[in-house]
Amino acid sequence: MLRRPRRNRKSEVIRSMVEETRLSVKDFIFPLFVIDGENKKEEVTSMPGIYRYSTDLLLEEISECVGLGIKSFDLFPALKEKLKDKYATESHNPNNFYLRAIEKVKSAFPEVCLMTDVAMDPYSSDGHDGIVENGEILNDPTLEVLEKMTLAQARAGADIIGPSDMMDGRVGHLRDALDNEGFENVSIMSYTAKYASAFYGPFRDALQSAPKLGDKKTYQMDPANKREALIEADLDYAEGADFLMVKPALAYLDIIHILKENYDLPIAAYNISGEYSMIKAATEKGWIDGEKAMLESLLSIKRAGASVILTYFAKEFAQLNC
Ligand code: PBG
Repeated sequence: MLRRPRRNRKSEVIRSMVEETRLSVKDFIFPLFVIDGENKKEEVTSMPGIYRYSTDLLLEEISECVGLGIKSFDLFPALKEKLKDKYATESHNPNNFYLRAIEKVKSAFPEVCLMTDVAMDPYSSDGHDGIVENGEILNDPTLEVLEKMTLAQARAGADIIGPSDMMDGRVGHLRDALDNEGFENVSIMSYTAKYASAFYGPFRDALQSAPKLGDKKTYQMDPANKREALIEADLDYAEGADFLMVKPALAYLDIIHILKENYDLPIAAYNISGEYSMIKAATEKGWIDGEKAMLESLLSIKRAGASVILTYFAKEFAQLNC
C-alpha cells in the first residue's frame, strides 16, 4: 500500500501537526444573562452552570472571564413580567437596568468587545420578536422599536449590535439609524439565517420569554430550507451587515458552510441553549463525556466555516487552557 492515512495519526504529536482546525478562546463570544437588582446570581434550571447576574456580579463574572482570555460578551436582559408590554417600551427606556449594565461593563472593561441583543421578545408581553396585532407579527412598525432599542444600546456603549428578530429590512434600517446618529463605528452582527428551532427552549426559560400564543414560524426560517439562507445573506450583505450569523449551529452546519463558501464576510454561529443543555444533561446522566462532547461540537462548528462562535461553553473551554 502506497497510501496509508493512518501514518498521519500514529502519535499525538503528528496528529496535532496535521490538525486542520484549531479552537482558540479568541473564537468565542460568551452570552451572559443580566437581571435587575444587586448581589443576585440565579442558576438557569435548564442550563446547568449558566446564571442570571445582577450587574455587580456580572462585572465580577466578566472580570474572571477576561482573566481567562475571553474578550467578547453578548448580554441578554431577563425582565420581570410587569415591565413587559405590547410595544417593548422598556427596551428603550434610558434608565433600564440593561442599558446601565452595558455602560458599567464598558467603563470597567473598555477593552472588551460588547455585543448587545436587538429584538423585542425579552420586553414583549406577547413573547414575540415583533409587535403582535390580531395574531400577526407586524414587520415595518417593529423596525421603529428596534431602531429605538439599537440607538439606546449604541449610546450606552455597545460595540456590536445583534439583531436577532428576523424582521425584513432591519439591517439596512438599523445601519441608517446608527449612521445618522454618528454611530458609524458600531458594528452589526446579523442573525442572518435564524431558524424556527426547538432548541431555543432553555433560553426562553432563562428569559421567561416564550411566545404566549403561536410560534415564530412567520419570521424565523423553516429548518427545511437552505437556499433561502442565501437570500437572507444577500440582503444582509447589501444592507451593510459586518458579520453573518447562523443559528442554531449544530443542526445547521451545512448552512454555515454554504454562507462561508459564498460570502467574504466573517461567518458567526450561535451554539445555542438547547445544544448546550443536551450535552450537560447527558453528562449528568453519565451517558457521554461532557468535555469531549463540548470540544467536538465546537470544533465541528469551526470546521464547517464559522470563525466566530457564540457559546455558553466559552468559560468552560477557557478553563481547560488547551
Ligand atoms: C430571540 C432570541 C432567541 C435566542 C436569542 N435571541 C430565541 C428565540 O428566538 O426565541 C436563543 C438563544 C439560545 O437559545 O441560546 N430574539
